[in-house]
Amino acid sequence: MSGVNDIRSTFLNYFKANGHEVVASSPLVPRNDPTLMFTNAGMVQFKNVFTGLEQRSYSTATTAQKCVRAGGKHNDLDNVGYTARHHTFFEMLGNFSFGDYFKDRAIELAWNLITKEFGLAKDKLCVTVYHTDDEAFNLWKKIAGLPDHKIIRIPTSDNFWAMGDTGPCGPCSEIFYDHGDHIWGGPPGSPEEDGDRFIEIWNLVFMQYEQISKEERIDLPRPSIDTGMGLERVAAVLQGEHDNYDIDLFRALIQASVELTGVKAEGERRASHRVIADHLRSSAFLIADGVLPSNEGRGYVLRRIMRRAMRHAELLGAREPIIYRLLPVLVQQMGRAYPELVRAEALISETLKLEETRFRKTLERGLALLADSTSSLAKGDSLDGETAFKLYDTYGFPLDLTQDALRARGIGVDITGFNDAMQRQKAEARANWAGSGDKATETVWFELKEKFGATEFLGYSAETAEGEIQALVRDGAVIETASAGETVQIVVNQTPFYGESGGQVGDTGEIIGEGFALDVTDTQKKGEGLFVHIARVREGSVKAGEPVTLNVDHARRGRLRANHSATHLLHEALREVLGTHVAQKGSLVAPERLRFDISHPKPITAEELKRVEEMANEIIVQNSPVTTRLMAVDDAIAEGAMALFGEKYGDEVRVVSMGTATHGSKAGKPYSIELCGGTHVSATGDIGLVRLVSESAVGAGVRRLEALTGEDARAYLAEQDERVKTLATALKVQPGDVVTRVEQLVDERRKLERELAEAKRKLAMGGGASGGDAPRDVNGIKFIGKALSGIEAKDLKGMADDAKAALGSGVVLLVAVADDGKASAVVGVTADLTERFSAVELVRVASAALGGKGGGGRPDMAQAGGPDGSKASDAVEAVAAALSAG
Ligand code: SER
Repeated sequence: MSGVNDIRSTFLNYFKANGHEVVASSPLVPRNDPTLMFTNAGMVQFKNVFTGLEQRSYSTATTAQKCVRAGGKHNDLDNVGYTARHHTFFEMLGNFSFGDYFKDRAIELAWNLITKEFGLAKDKLCVTVYHTDDEAFNLWKKIAGLPDHKIIRIPTSDNFWAMGDTGPCGPCSEIFYDHGDHIWGGPPGSPEEDGDRFIEIWNLVFMQYEQISKEERIDLPRPSIDTGMGLERVAAVLQGEHDNYDIDLFRALIQASVELTGVKAEGERRASHRVIADHLRSSAFLIADGVLPSNEGRGYVLRRIMRRAMRHAELLGAREPIIYRLLPVLVQQMGRAYPELVRAEALISETLKLEETRFRKTLERGLALLADSTSSLAKGDSLDGETAFKLYDTYGFPLDLTQDALRARGIGVDITGFNDAMQRQKAEARANWAGSGDKATETVWFELKEKFGATEFLGYSAETAEGEIQALVRDGAVIETASAGETVQIVVNQTPFYGESGGQVGDTGEIIGEGFALDVTDTQKKGEGLFVHIARVREGSVKAGEPVTLNVDHARRGRLRANHSATHLLHEALREVLGTHVAQKGSLVAPERLRFDISHPKPITAEELKRVEEMANEIIVQNSPVTTRLMAVDDAIAEGAMALFGEKYGDEVRVVSMGTATHGSKAGKPYSIELCGGTHVSATGDIGLVRLVSESAVGAGVRRLEALTGEDARAYLAEQDERVKTLATALKVQPGDVVTRVEQLVDERRKLERELAEAKRKLAMGGGASGGDAPRDVNGIKFIGKALSGIEAKDLKGMADDAKAALGSGVVLLVAVADDGKASAVVGVTADLTERFSAVELVRVASAALGGKGGGGRPDMAQAGGPDGSKASDAVEAVAAALSAG
């Protein structure tokens, strides 16, 4: 008997040995399909290869593909736990030929694998073919040697496989295993075919056509092959089990849940263990692929699965979260084949625990309400829709959880009543909203949100995705089409485009459809949950309902990611360097730069800025992974996450952590933890480099920093470097000597300025105060009065002092006339004469002559100004007159 892991690798190795490329499973969230909720078959990732749209380097491939069938078109959720073969998560083994081999080789490969490698007895096998497919019938006969009655022609769609309403399709041939006559049932096509005896284990699809629309089907460029074998089913056969839940993998999971709860997997509790084992798998794999629980779209399907499992844990008597405690067993079982499970283990564990903890708070009260409301109901009755809605709305019970809870008692739920109650609540919300005074043009978003639900955002993990246009809007109204040259707002069911929020600007890029293309110039969030693409039609014309490919401008988004992550690092570094009073006051994350405003009462010094930049770059060089988790706000804050005061957060928040602190009390712990809905790099090294380029004030107590990252930071530094080189050339030194040289030049210049001033002074005073013009004698007092040009006002006092010293006893008046014609005057009086003449009074006399007023100083030295320098000699004469008068 071989285990699931051996069977998987036997399958892949077999096809590898037969020339097939082993291709990794694609993620559970399809990237290449507009409306598919989850990857539900192995061929999903090859859809465009079959139709010829996409080329690969190989023409045959083999995969073990993760699949989820819950929500959307294929939904097995309701049956899981109660049957032998329903799962929300399963693995599909497949081999594919893209125009390489066709029916004969496909049948031969399949037959050899199951009879030779797997060693299944031929007499236990039978096959079906599409009723008109004689070719397949004959090939089975020839290759497998099956008798005619074991090659069953089926006329129904059971033997015509289609991916969906459109896409690749073709007749198929299924291989069945007979579990033996101890189980009731008949071969396919017989009246007892619905029994459990003959089980389909492998579906070989002869891909021949592409369904273009309901009416139109065309041939594929080349006939191809797509096969799908349920790993759990074939494992059951190979392990001699009839029930998928009895294979080794499920036994391990169920055993762990039995040990944890102390409740045996028997009787009516058997289903609960199965539900938990199955739902643990789908939840873990969905979370690993980027889905997080929410109230919309894929996230809500995940939440429904998780909560359904949690109710069953409750049935098993669990009073504490337990599902996350089973995760290590799953990782042990499947982590080797799916390394993403190991990588995301912490995230999965935390997400499960959080959801369990939160749901626990209402689960018991909801169950009590449910018990009360149904106490008088009997088998065949229905719970009223109003109560089912209350359970949904107030207690967080997804509808299928309520249905599941009543299933054992044979009680249904009034779905119409449930939907009515839901509609009523929406109508009330709309009435309240309409009354809230928002602009009429905004009403359209609210209506679209109500009609289509929130846009599913795929952009945390994808930058390209397919979607379906839901509506086109212009000037607040829905429009039918938009043509080349027109600008339009577009709502798509899912998008990788980030809508502007949290300081990060919206994404740009393009939207491409059959016969049309648009350039997206911005993306905004509207109507609480819609992502609105603002786009200009580049070619063709676009209308609602069209499938489209959405491509985010990859390079621009890369810069946005780097700038956003760098903002977090700078925030933490600033708190470390400046203190924890630092709080974010605003932020702009644009592609070309980041701007960050913080509360801080004074300018940040150059030394502080340098340390902040060094710290942020230290974490960048660590190149440590950036992790995102979904947490309860309170837990996140308790863990030290920085939340913005005054910001409105939901109950659950995304928490982004990056880097490892190297010192202080946080050493070894995450360096930065913030609540954030933005997009980030996957490892800090992707930021490349962060460079602060400016620091300024934007208001009282708020400083603004601007920074560049990656290529922009490099280019900035290169430009600075270029400047230094240009300077070095001009200064005729090596770049390393520029600073010394400039300092030298500044010193020299200062010295020269001093010498020049001295020289001018000497020249002005006629070769020096001592040997200069002889003083006049005015009334027995030695007086020097001079008008000077080319002398700065600030030098006058010094010159007047020199002149006073040379005179020994006397009075000096110096008038400097500046280039603009204005005059400055200084009067100096030697100490022996200050009793008789005050410099202040004399300078006022000079100032009056110069057309000015006032002046001030001390009795021995005073200064004044005047607008009219041409009157300088009048000023000299006026002072002389004052001396002779005094
Ligand atoms: N696409 C087919 C299926 O899902 C065979 O892989 O059954």
